[in-house]
Amino acid sequence: MCGIVGYIGDKKATPILIQGLTRLEYRGYDSAGIAVIENNKIEVKKDKGRVSNLTLLDGIDNLEATIGIAHTRWATHGKPSKENSHPHMDMEGLFAIVHNGIIENYNELKNDLTQKGYKFISQTDTEVIVNLINYYYNQDKNEDELKFLRAVKNACMDLKGSFALEIISNKEPEKMIVVRKDSPLVIGKGNGESYIASDIPAILSYTRDFYFLNDYEFAYLSRNNIKFYDTNLNEIKKETKAIEWDSKGAEKDGYEHFMLKEINEQPKAIRETIGTRLNNSKVSFDELSFTREYLEEINKMYIVACGTAMHAGLVSKNIFEKLCKIPVEVDIASEFRYRDPLINNKTLVIYISQSGETADTIAALKLAKAKGAKTIAITNVIGSSITREADYSIYTHAGPEIAVASTKAYTSQVTMLALIALYFAEILERADTNKINTIKEDILKLPNKAEEVLKDTSEIQEVAKRIYKERDMFFLGRGVDYAVSLEGSLKLKEISYIHSEGYASGELKHGPIALIDIGVTVIATITNKDLVEKSISNIQEVISRGAKIIVVTNQNIENKGFDTIIRIPEISTEISPVLSIIPLQLLSYYISKEKGLDVDKPRNLAKSVTVE
Ligand code: M6R
Repeated sequence: MCGIVGYIGDKKATPILIQGLTRLEYRGYDSAGIAVIENNKIEVKKDKGRVSNLTLLDGIDNLEATIGIAHTRWATHGKPSKENSHPHMDMEGLFAIVHNGIIENYNELKNDLTQKGYKFISQTDTEVIVNLINYYYNQDKNEDELKFLRAVKNACMDLKGSFALEIISNKEPEKMIVVRKDSPLVIGKGNGESYIASDIPAILSYTRDFYFLNDYEFAYLSRNNIKFYDTNLNEIKKETKAIEWDSKGAEKDGYEHFMLKEINEQPKAIRETIGTRLNNSKVSFDELSFTREYLEEINKMYIVACGTAMHAGLVSKNIFEKLCKIPVEVDIASEFRYRDPLINNKTLVIYISQSGETADTIAALKLAKAKGAKTIAITNVIGSSITREADYSIYTHAGPEIAVASTKAYTSQVTMLALIALYFAEILERADTNKINTIKEDILKLPNKAEEVLKDTSEIQEVAKRIYKERDMFFLGRGVDYAVSLEGSLKLKEISYIHSEGYASGELKHGPIALIDIGVTVIATITNKDLVEKSISNIQEVISRGAKIIVVTNQNIENKGFDTIIRIPEISTEISPVLSIIPLQLLSYYISKEKGLDVDKPRNLAKSVTVE
C-alpha cells in the first residue's frame, strides 16, 4: 500500500516521477506528491486526491530538477489531507522523505522528539522518521561524505515496523538514499541514471536491469553511481538481475481497463506458467529437487495465502489430497500466523502471493520456517520479498498484474499448484497413473480452452445489464466449484460493491436459504459430473423460493427453469476452476462497468497489502 518512485540522472525528474506514480496508483490513491532538488533547494508539491491532480498544481511544470522522489498514498496514520500527504520534510527543511509501510513505535519516537523540541504538522508516522534523521544529522559532529547516510541509518535502527524509504537532502543535493525493511522497493539501473519504484512495472519502460535490496541494505545513489552498504556502513557488492517482462504488460494496450486486459491475457499467462514443465516424461521442477523419502515423510501440508491467492489454495487442496494422499489444510495467512499451528520438520507449507509482498503471508512464512517446516513460495514477482524468505521459490509467469482485482494471477496459481501436485504424485506413486496422465493432458489444453471461453462475452454482458442494480447475490458450488464460488463472490464484492456470499450448495439449507427471496440472483457453478444431480436439486430449492438462477457449467445440463446457462468447455474437475472462474470475472467486470465504477481501482483497496 502506497507507491513510491524516485529518479536521479540527467533527465527532467518530474515527468518520470508522475508517470511512475500513475503506474503505481493501484497501490493507493488518496493523495500524491513529489519532492525535487532545484538550485540546491528542496521543492515539494503535494495534495489530497489522485495523481492526476498533481499535474494541476502551481509551478509543477516549471521544475527542471533531475533528482526527485514521489509518493501515492493509501492512508494508514492520518486521514487523507494535504498535510498528511508525502513527501514530508523535517522541521528545519533539510530533508524530504517518502515512505511505504507502517512504523509501529512512532508514538514513542514522536514523544521523544517532541521533548527534544521537535514540532510536527501532520499525523503521520513518516514525519517522525524525517525528524529523527534530522536529529541524528545534527548530533553528528563528523563532516565526512557518509554523514547523510549515517543519519539515515541511525534513524532506521530506531524504527519498528515496515518501511521502504527514499530520502533527499539539500545538504547533499546530488545524492539520494533508499532503504527497505519488509516493504517492497526496486532500483532500476539506467545509463548514468537510476530509477526507483515500489514495483518493477512502474519503471519497466526505462530499464530491464534491477537491483533488489534485502532488509536494512542502504543504497546511496549519485547521478551515475550507486553504492550499497550494510548496517555497519560497510560497502557491499550487489548484482543486477535482468527482468524479461514485456513493458507492454504494464500498459492498457487498447483495452478500456487493466482488468479486462488481464482477463483476456489468461490463455497466454497459463501457457507461460506451464512453460516446459510438462512434456512427454515426468513433470519437472528444477527448483524443487524433492526426494521420494522426503515426500513420504510429510505428514501434513498447509497452503497459506490471502484473498484470491487463498482461494487458489482452496481449489488445490482437492488435487493434492487426491493424487498425493497427503492431508492439506488451507489457511488465511492473518489467521495462521496467530493461531499457533501444528508444525514440525515433517510439515510442508506452500505460500501463494501474486505480489510476493503481502505482509501477513510473509509473516506466516517466517513462522513456519522458524518451527522447522519446509516452505515453498509461489509468486508472480521476481525478486519479491517472499522469495528471499522461502526455502524454494516458484514463479508463475502471468506477467504484471495491475488491476486491483486479481484475475490472471489466480488462474496461473491454480495451474501451478496442479503442476506441483502432479510432480509430487509422480514421485510418490500413490495415485492411478491414468488419472495423472489425463490431468496432464488436460492442463496442456487449458490455454486453448480459456481462449474459447473468452471468444464471445455477449451473453455475460447481457446478464450484467440485467442484474447490475441488485444489492445481494449468492454464489453456489460443491467441491472445487465451492472454492470458485468464493472467488466469484470476492470479485463481485470488490469491484461492484454489491454484497455477495459464496456458499457450499449443500450448506444453504442450514441457514442462508432464509435470505433467498423473489428475484434474488443466485449464480451456481457445476463442473463435477458426479455432483450434477445434487447441485441441480440445491438449485431447485432456491428456484422454488423465487430466485433467478445463472448456471456456469461444463456438463450437459438441461435448462430447468434457469435464467441463463453459460456453457464452458469440459475439462478434468480438478483444474476446471481455471475455466469456470472466467465467466464470473467477466460478469463482475461488466457489472462494475455498468455501474460506472472505477474498475481497476476500487474504493478502499490497494493491490498489495504490505501492512497487517
Ligand atoms: O499479492 P497477493 O497475492 O499476496 O495478494 C493477496 C490479496 O490481497 C489479493 O488476492 C486480493 O484479495 C485481491 N484484490 C483479490 O482480487
